[in-house]
Amino acid sequence: MTNKDNIYKPTEENIAQAAEIIKNGGLVAFPTDTVYGLGANVYDSHAVAGIFKAKERPLFDPLISHIAEIDFLQEYAQTDERVLALAHHFWPGPLTFVLKRKDTNPSIDLACAGLTSMAVRMPNHPVALNLIKKSGVPIVAPSANRFKTVSPTTAQHVYDSLGNRVDMILDGGACRIGVETTIIDLTGKNITILRAGGLAKETLEDFLGEKVLINENSSSHPKAPGQLLKHYAPKLPMRINVEESDVKEDEFFIAFGKVSRHAELNLSPSGNLEEAAANLFAYMREAEKHTNYKGIAMSPIPMAGLGLAINDRIKRASYKE
Ligand code: TXA
Ligand code: MG
Repeated sequence: MTNKDNIYKPTEENIAQAAEIIKNGGLVAFPTDTVYGLGANVYDSHAVAGIFKAKERPLFDPLISHIAEIDFLQEYAQTDERVLALAHHFWPGPLTFVLKRKDTNPSIDLACAGLTSMAVRMPNHPVALNLIKKSGVPIVAPSANRFKTVSPTTAQHVYDSLGNRVDMILDGGACRIGVETTIIDLTGKNITILRAGGLAKETLEDFLGEKVLINENSSSHPKAPGQLLKHYAPKLPMRINVEESDVKEDEFFIAFGKVSRHAELNLSPSGNLEEAAANLFAYMREAEKHTNYKGIAMSPIPMAGLGLAINDRIKRASYKE
């Protein structure tokens, strides 16, 4: 990790160059609506393996394929009317589908960790869509950070975590949503949320006209294998659901909403959950730099809307083994 000469502005020319890197089996980090992704050509086994290596991620943890056209979905995975209706309504956007696989290419086996299902999404970001179209292939991309660390919401975060392990980082500024996609399992009759994320459960339920279940299984072999109990770990120990009167002198306080005590940071002084989600990972990264504090204390976050995703991430971040 020497210099930042791999961070590029997302000009047409640079995106075209990034697409060449993808086609030639390299790794490109790119902005999406949720968090930055570390992308590779899904049809290149060597490149897909390179993602796991760069992230130091175990091979049992499958990746999400990013596509730019709904029509492509039918070639790739098993779809039905329900899947297509969801895609037409929510894509591009912060929603990932787990579907039964169609393709049996060996590189896709690796990307899907040998599962018979696959995760697919269409990101709502012009740079991501442009890159996928220019590459001419689906791009598999996990969050562009080392395994078990906080996901990156800026190009600088990607650089701090992966440095020159990435051939090119396209800098699209801060990600608008700031937490990863909501992942839903569409392989069975009922729709289950495997990971709470940038699309609120309520929004999904309003569209479907039915309740959606949440998969609470988060042991060491969860259904979304990335949902390990200890994940998103900041370097300082973190306590959550801490009322402002219980914050200790030597704790870095991350507040939410109006507080009367001094807070080192506030996720959203007005109590807006979208704003809090967008700030969450950047603030956790900021907090862990302050090693003169013994730990991080975070205010309670309401369990509604994007609060589900926020609570999920901070619960994992605060988990003690
Ligand atoms: O917002 C996002 O989803 C970002 C951006 C870059 O698109 N990506 C992301 O990827 O968060 P990653 O790899 O950090 O998380 C993907 C999650 C993991 O928990 C993985 O276990 C789960 O998706 N997953 C992938 N394929 C799956 C499958 N076939 N069945 C169940 N879970 C799957
Ligand atoms: Mg991740």
